[in-house]
Amino acid sequence: MICGGAGFIGSHLTDRLLADGHQVTVVDDLSNGRMENLAAATASGRCELIKLDVVDAQFGSLARSVRPEVIFNLAAQIDVRASVADPLRDVTANVLGTVAVLEAARHAGVRKVVLASSVAIYGPPKQLPVREDTPPRPLSPYAVSKLAGEFYLRQYHDLYGLETTALVLTNTYGPRQNPHGEAGVVAIFAAAMLTGRPTWVFGDGDNRRDYVFVADVVDAFVRAAGPAAAGQRINVGTGRGVTDLELHRAVAEAVGGAPEPQRAPPRLGDLPAMVVDASAAAEILGWRPRTSLADGLAHTVAALRDA
Ligand SMILES: NC(=O)c1ccc[n+]([C@@H]2O[C@H](COP(=O)([O-])OP(=O)(O)OC[C@H]3O[C@@H](n4cnc5c(N)ncnc54)[C@H](O)[C@@H]3O)[C@@H](O)[C@H]2O)c1
Repeated sequence: MICGGAGFIGSHLTDRLLADGHQVTVVDDLSNGRMENLAAATASGRCELIKLDVVDAQFGSLARSVRPEVIFNLAAQIDVRASVADPLRDVTANVLGTVAVLEAARHAGVRKVVLASSVAIYGPPKQLPVREDTPPRPLSPYAVSKLAGEFYLRQYHDLYGLETTALVLTNTYGPRQNPHGEAGVVAIFAAAMLTGRPTWVFGDGDNRRDYVFVADVVDAFVRAAGPAAAGQRINVGTGRGVTDLELHRAVAEAVGGAPEPQRAPPRLGDLPAMVVDASAAAEILGWRPRTSLADGLAHTVAALRDA
């Protein structure tokens, strides 16, 4: 079962699980996800999409009737700025939603729950790359909600023996990422460049982020569904920092050329750098990012051209 499976990452995870021969139930309230993301999946006959908020009282009985082996919880309010503007909505989807998933899992005899957490939990890093044992300093309601979700996972693991793993994702990019929101700079740059609109870089353009391709992230979820890393947090990223200007150049190259970006003042609260140490993912899950930035951007741009 994939909660949030009609979204960007969740729909790719759905496709991968179907390709691996599994039966998949997607639960998504379509607040940000799209049915089109699951067009191929639902046509396969092995994927059912159920439009439902995971916080809804019906979710528990749904899980008991489906009895999935694993629940992947990717359902979330994902916009950091929206979490500041409306923390109640954020806590409802991200904290209550995760507790609802864990409760449903416990009563439905689910073996494992895998949560999509975020590097936002770490806050401004004292040292790069950031390891899993770095004391978290969540600075936004979104980051607090993701960290709270992680604590609940740990608690269900310790109290009930439910296998749980929190994957801490860095900046994930790829086809189907929504270019209309505030998140997803790759999608924003690529969509603007393909339609001849200007692009913007904040401050000096030297903020650094760790960009990981969605197929690699999905592979980490699949590996985390096994027995390894129970009760643990695992970073998922490339360990390589790419500045905003470097990213802009790389996307321009993938698009076949674009004008230089416009400059805007630095944004309050933007971290100068975030790069993770993903050696635990390699050691414990046997995971490594396989897709270079150039290849991942080429796939992303090709998908945008076809859309
Ligand atoms: N994209 C990234 O770079 C990134 C980085 C770190 C963490 N994450 C996490 O990964 C997960 C997936 O992110 P994404 O980029 O695919 O976002 P997304 O918005 O495309 O996917 C989230 C999905 O959850 C659904 N949803 C939201 N609230 C729900 C609820 N209460 N009940 C049922 N469905 C609900 C939305 O409709 C959407 O389809 C999220 O948990 C996000 O916080 C993403």
